[in-house]
Amino acid sequence: MQGSDREENPASDKSRGGAVPLGDGSNDTLISRGSPPRGGSKDAPADSRRAHDPSAEGPLSLRRQGGALIITIEREERRNALSLATLEAFGNVFRHHLAPDDRAVIVTGSGARAFCAGADLKERREMSLDEVRAQLVRYRTDLAWLSTSPVPTIAAINGAALGGGLELALLCDLRVAAPHASFALPETGLGIIPAAGGTQYLPRIVGAAKARELILLGTRLSAAEALRIGLVHRICDAGVSVLDDALEWVAPITRGAPLAQRAALRALRAADRLDIDAGLEFELACYEPCLVSDDRREALEAFAEKREPVFKGR
Ligand code: COA
Repeated sequence: MQGSDREENPASDKSRGGAVPLGDGSNDTLISRGSPPRGGSKDAPADSRRAHDPSAEGPLSLRRQGGALIITIEREERRNALSLATLEAFGNVFRHHLAPDDRAVIVTGSGARAFCAGADLKERREMSLDEVRAQLVRYRTDLAWLSTSPVPTIAAINGAALGGGLELALLCDLRVAAPHASFALPETGLGIIPAAGGTQYLPRIVGAAKARELILLGTRLSAAEALRIGLVHRICDAGVSVLDDALEWVAPITRGAPLAQRAALRALRAADRLDIDAGLEFELACYEPCLVSDDRREALEAFAEKREPVFKGR
């Protein structure tokens, strides 16, 4: 988001084996700017993880399945709205829970009504202007790592994704929706604008024209409409848990080569902000760490031996 990839040379990013930094450089910058890590340095993730309950962080529950870290917003009574504590908890997940062997991150909401109803409007009603300003910064410090995470991030959208809830989904690399999910950015009807990245990410995902319609009119989309305009990648079958569907769908990611996944993510994300010449150069630089990796050689050997490769992430 802050363009740090542009400054760093991915070819110099060596293997992630051993004591692995949890993000790419841009994440560390984003997180440390607004809210310093509590209970440990970002350089000592293993220590800070030990001090934390592995199954919860504030209003978020955490579990691991199929190689993915699953983050569930547990605020069904407020339709999983983003309170300050929820935003801070997202930041803490990055700071203290994301582990080197997590191959993907899935975000979902509790219950079937809402993925996330956006900002907690009851909490916001009591806030001063400066508190609201500080909350907007938190979207950039505590949520934005989902858009620069070293592993793919996936929104499993189990119901309404409104306002900041849709923006939360937009930060993710991939979006899977339940058939009854709905989508809208109703902010202009509330006297504000989407400010968790909505005005910037939505045009990049669905195109400038559709983004204008959705933001200026506050149009509410069904899952089928969202699929048609490319806002979501997939709708799960009726009666199937969207989380289970997402886990099955992303299995190829968790079986792929970790360094290649990371390099591909960097190159893809850079395409949002680089012109074509710079982008093609960046793509080559992203190839380099893959070229010198053991996993690339393992893939070639496995192909020759007609077996599945065993990737080690180095
Ligand atoms: N912030 C705080 N509380 C919220 C909330 C939000 N964004 N969205 C819903 N809630 C609360 C409701 O006030 C209600 O609380 P109550 O039981 O104390 O009255 C509870 O969650 C259930 O809401 P309800 O509207 O009855 O649920 P629903 O399942 O029929 O509808 C939504 C769910 C998400 C479609 C609907 O609540 C809604 O449109 N919320 C507003 C979303 C919004 O405008 N977000 C933009 C923020 S910029």
